[in-house]
Amino acid sequence: MPIVVLISGSGSNLQAIIDAMQAGELPVEIRAVISNRTDAYGLERARAAGIHTEVVDHREYAGREAFDRALQKTIDAHEPALVVLAGFMRILTHEFVEHYMGRMLNIHPALLPLFPGLNTHERALQEAVKQHGATVHFVTTEVDGGPLVLSARVPVRPGDTAEGLAARVLEQEHRIYPQAIRWFAEGRLQMQYDRVLLDEKPLPTTGIDFAELTTDQTR
Ligand code: GRF
Repeated sequence: MPIVVLISGSGSNLQAIIDAMQAGELPVEIRAVISNRTDAYGLERARAAGIHTEVVDHREYAGREAFDRALQKTIDAHEPALVVLAGFMRILTHEFVEHYMGRMLNIHPALLPLFPGLNTHERALQEAVKQHGATVHFVTTEVDGGPLVLSARVPVRPGDTAEGLAARVLEQEHRIYPQAIRWFAEGRLQMQYDRVLLDEKPLPTTGIDFAELTTDQTR
């Protein structure tokens, strides 16, 4: 299945997707990795894997609408069946999101619906939650608000720093994102209105917990 991956930074999630693909565990072809920043390290990861890269620099556009239109054109030239946001740090216009409705996934470093937006690890520590984690969700017009697919929990330990917590959450991101993308690539995952269906069965609104996946679901 052709996909396009959008990044802004390090691209460790992109790397997890590339690794799963190269291991024969993920039936996708990454047609392009697109970044809004020329200095995103993920571009180097893509090049190292022989994947086509492009930069659409948001600073070169008069506003969000013009940038999103250019981005959409760049993405659509590759005819992806799925757009994967992997640390793409831009708020998207409604027009853009609607264009990819049901075929765009994002990963967020928190247990949604807790802590949408930025600085999730700092906020989790401030609020002294016992568990934190990451969530894969379909993208809708509400920022970090689309239907939830798959999450992984990470215990918060006494003395945790935001950096330490971020690193442990990131490890889990690298497990759940390839899994969710695989379901989509295999035609098993769908967004239907505000719900997610896996193997034609609706998921709970919280999505699935990675620790509770059945062997059927991971097959
Ligand atoms: C991840 O924590 C992701 O959840 C968030 O941005 C970070 C991107 O990391 N949206 P990377 O670029 O994939 O390493």
